[in-house]
Order: sequence, then C-alpha cells, then structure tokens
Amino acid sequence: MAKRGSKTMLAFGDLHIPQHNRRAVEVFCRAAERIQPDLVVCLGDLLDCGQFSPHLPTYGVPETEYLDDLREAGALLDRLQKVCTRLVVVEGNHEHRLDRWAAATAEGRGAYSMLAPRVQLTRGRRCIYVPYGSADGRYPHYRVNSRIIAVHGWSYARHATKNHLAVSQGKSVIHGHTHRADASIVQNIWSPGRVIEARSAGCLCRPIPLYGAGRPVEWVNAFILGYLGRRSDTLYTIPIVDDRCILPDGAEVAA
Ligand SMILES: [Fe+2]
Repeated sequence: MAKRGSKTMLAFGDLHIPQHNRRAVEVFCRAAERIQPDLVVCLGDLLDCGQFSPHLPTYGVPETEYLDDLREAGALLDRLQKVCTRLVVVEGNHEHRLDRWAAATAEGRGAYSMLAPRVQLTRGRRCIYVPYGSADGRYPHYRVNSRIIAVHGWSYARHATKNHLAVSQGKSVIHGHTHRADASIVQNIWSPGRVIEARSAGCLCRPIPLYGAGRPVEWVNAFILGYLGRRSDTLYTIPIVDDRCILPDGAEVAA
C-alpha cells in the first residue's frame, strides 16, 4: 500500500510483439490490475515491426501479419488503460522503423498514417505517445516527475544503464532497449542524503537471438514498480520467474 500523497508507477517495455512472452505479459497485466497504478509507462519496442526491417527475418521465428501485431498491442494498451489513471507510450527504435520506411519509399509515405504505431496506437485512446525521433535537439523523453525521466534507451553497451546516468545529467532515468535488468544508484551530491538512479526494466519478450549482436543470455523478463513521493522516489525491479512475480509487499502474482 502506497503512502498517502505518493503515486504508484509501473514501467515495462520491449515486448517485441509478436516475439513477446505471453505468460510474462499476463503476469505484468495482472500485477497492474492488482496495483491499479496512477501511471503506466511503456518504454518502447512494444512492437517488433520486423516486417519493416531491412534485415532478413530471423531463422525459426514465425512471420506474422503486421496488422495482427498492431491489434495485439492495442488490446494490451486497452487492458492497461482500464486500470491506470495515465498511460504513456515512449516509442522505441523498432516502432521508429515505420518512420524510416516512410522516409525511404513513396509507398511508405502513402500508407504511413494507416500503419504507423504513433497514429494507430493513440487513436481512440487516452494515451500519451512520445515519438522516438527529435527535430528540436532535445532527447525525446517522458517526464515522470521533477526527478525522473523515462526514455526508450540511449545505449546498448555493456554498461548502458550507468551510461544513461551520465547522459541524463542529474535526473534519474528509467529505460528499456537493453532487455537487461540493471540498476545504478549514486548519491546526489547536490542534495546530500538523496540518490539519483538509472534503471532498466528488463523485457517481456522471449529470449531468442533476434538481433545478431544481442546477448539473450542476459535478457530478463521484468518490469519496474515505483512509489513516487513528494520529495523522493523508490523504484523496484520485479523479475518474472516461472510465470509469476513477487511484489514488494510479498504478494504473489501468477499468470
Ligand atoms: Fe530498442
């Protein structure tokens, strides 16, 4: 139970529909239904958009229709919207494939509004969508509160989470993209006793080597739970193991 005056947040990402782990997604949804958070943030790569990739399909991964994937992503957002006050989708590099495809082909430009996640996922939903690209020199991000920002991910390097702390310049940052569940917490030297942290949310996809350079052995199905207070925040990473997770209050949520 959150303290009065504080808000609860859930953050998740990297489902890569249709490569998502359905059981892990179910655990996450049930956790959301139990917690009824004020804020749910999708950290991007909700859709894989492999149909728009210049790369060859990965051997052994079934090919799906993009519109079916889009429908599945929409159904998930509808389910989450029912149990939270505010739903935010931060776009990932995979959804951004549609923009690159549209920029490169006349066919893409013609079909853009019918296919683009930023159009299709927000239509008829009260959902805040943060595009991946930026034309104004600002890093696209969602401002969770005065201390925390949410981004898809600025790095896939081994120490990506720590790197995010350097780039965010004094803000705490939550991110996806790496599929790993890392945290780096440092003292905020400008406010003694306080901390600043970077935290990655893990992923909700299956551990298959989608992209040659990835290290699926380090991928973890997980999500972030945050209690956002007036003056400080507490963030947890909740791993999903054996189709279940344990919340900080000890409650078990199973698929
Ligand atoms: Fe990504």
